[in-house]
Amino acid sequence: MSIYSKKDKETLDYLQPIEIAEGVFWVGFADMNIGLRCNPYLIVDGDEAVLIDGGSRGDFSTVMMKILRTGLDPHKIKRLIYQHYDPDLCGSVAHMEAVINNKELQIISHRENNIFIHFYSTTPKKQCITTLGYSYTFGNGRRLEFIPTPYAHAPGSFMTYDCKTKTLFSSDLFGSYDNIWSLYLRSTDDCTKCTPENKCHVNGRKCPINGILAFHQRVMNSAASLRYALEQVAAREVTLLAPQHGSIIDSPDQMKLMIERLKSLEHVGFDYFVQQNLRETSK
Ligand SMILES: [Fe+2]
Ligand SMILES: [Fe+2]
Repeated sequence: MSIYSKKDKETLDYLQPIEIAEGVFWVGFADMNIGLRCNPYLIVDGDEAVLIDGGSRGDFSTVMMKILRTGLDPHKIKRLIYQHYDPDLCGSVAHMEAVINNKELQIISHRENNIFIHFYSTTPKKQCITTLGYSYTFGNGRRLEFIPTPYAHAPGSFMTYDCKTKTLFSSDLFGSYDNIWSLYLRSTDDCTKCTPENKCHVNGRKCPINGILAFHQRVMNSAASLRYALEQVAAREVTLLAPQHGSIIDSPDQMKLMIERLKSLEHVGFDYFVQQNLRETSK
């Protein structure tokens, strides 16, 4: 369940860090001029913190300003978790490292990603989730679990589950291409009975589901890898789905709906390309 009421969610100040669960802060850049916004998340527990999918080089100053506004001394960030290696989430590695300025800082990712993360920065030690036993435990005992989602979309893609708040940081899974954005997914109770149209027949706004479906068709490798990743989500008790793009999903009905809609996507990745090509050539 969300810590914000429906009304509060409409009036959130995106210029500030936003606490989405106990000790979990959204520290992203709500740039309204682009269709692909990134959501870095900071988890603070006791005297230490980890940053998940820290963001692009261009977003660095905004992300760091928000980290500072949580009251955290960046020196206390012990781990940078990168759930794959794309520039939208890794581009600021060297900048982060310089400001955090802590010899104990380590990067947690998958070895398939670490090969490429090395090209952003060679300095911090890079750990693979497999050798860490798929988990990280804070000094106070708070446990993060790492869940592999291979080829959804990178070979080493994974998600991170915060056992304390049951928040699932799903990386590109549940992401969206959309020029209309809100931190929390807006939908109506009628969405479960609806086929997504351009405009919602209830509130007249642009339907956000289309942007989510389009993102997965173009970014994920295949329907098989997408379905495997969705099964990992469905197998866990999740109260908050926090993707790296698009909007946070905090209602069980919305989660169920999105999992079902995404599972039924037929043309994903290369199959989507082939289908689009066939359409173009038959015109
Ligand atoms: Fe990606
Ligand atoms: Fe991404």
